[in-house]
Order: sequence, then structure tokens, then C-alpha cells
Amino acid sequence: MGSTEGVFFLTGKDFKNAGSASSSLKGILEGMGIPPAIIRRVAIASFEAEMNTIIYAVAGMINYCITPEMITIRIQDMGPGIEDIELAMKEGYSTAPDYIREMGFGSGMGLPNIKRNADTLTVNSIIGEGTTVEFIINLAPGE
Ligand SMILES: Nc1ncnc2c1ncn2[C@@H]1O[C@H](COP(=O)(O)OP(=O)(O)OP(=O)(O)O)[C@@H](O)[C@H]1O
Ligand SMILES: [Mg+2]
Repeated sequence: MGSTEGVFFLTGKDFKNAGSASSSLKGILEGMGIPPAIIRRVAIASFEAEMNTIIYAVAGMINYCITPEMITIRIQDMGPGIEDIELAMKEGYSTAPDYIREMGFGSGMGLPNIKRNADTLTVNSIIGEGTTVEFIINLAPGE
């Protein structure tokens, strides 16, 4: 069987459209008849990664690839990068400035939430260049 692939482009600080790529992706998965419990996990994880790109980076993109076996989502950004990925993965760790916190973000729960919802998560970052977050959610039959 084939695969369904696509890409969404993200612009840093574009809070007006924040979350729209993740909700479009959710719509695509719904249209494909993916089980709601799986869609929920993808939507939560992709939303968190999308918000991190919008909050911390200059620009980025979300690539998705859906096969009968798995959903692979890769969020790549051009931005400051993450100095200490292990620290960034800790619940409650955040460098979000006050104006971001006033918008309701900056609890330091985004990356832990991605990890919780994904079957595998890989975070790579180069300081001064950007960050890539890739996660996979398996589509095991009968799940
Ligand atoms: N794409 C990114 N580019 C640069 N830094 C990032 C990126 N994503 C995360 N970080 C860093 O990792 C920290 C933790 O990210 P995480 O998503 O877990 O929490 P948060 O964004 O601070 O708050 P929340 O997601 O709960 O709103 C961020 O505060 C930031 O310092
Ligand atoms: Mg976040």
C-alpha cells in the first residue's frame, strides 16, 4: 500500500495562525479514517511542536507521512536551537518570556507531552541553526 505525505509551513511569532497546521493535519487523518485515539495523540504532539516553532523559531515546517504501519511527523525549524535537550525535555523547564506566559504557554510541558503521546521521539538541534523534532505513532492493526 502507498503513503500519504505533505508539508505545512510555519512562521515564527505568527500567533494568529498558531495551531492551524496541526488542526489541518487532524482533518487529514480524520478523512483517512484513522482511529480517534491515534488522531488525538498525533494532534497533541504536533500542536506542541508547532507551538514551539512559532514561539522560539524564525520559521519551520511540519512534514507528515502516513503509511498503513505508522504516522511519522517531522517538525524542522530555523531558530536558536536547544542548548541542553535533556534539560528541555524535563517537565516544568521553560525559557518562555513573560509575554508568552501571558498567552498561556511556557509551562514547560510541551516536549514531555510529545514524548508521552509518541511511540518514538527524536530531538536534534544545532545551536544557531535550528531544531528538528521527529516522532512516530504506530498504527498497529486493531489498535
Ligand atoms: N523549537 C525550539 N527551538 C528552540 N528552543 C526550544 C524549541 N522547543 C523547545 N525549546 C526549549 O525547550 C524548552 C521546553 O520546551 P517545552 O515545549 O517543553 O516547554 P515550553 O514551550 O517552555 O512550555 P509549554 O510547551 O508548556 O507551553 C523551551 O522553553 C525552550 O527553551
Ligand atoms: Mg512548548
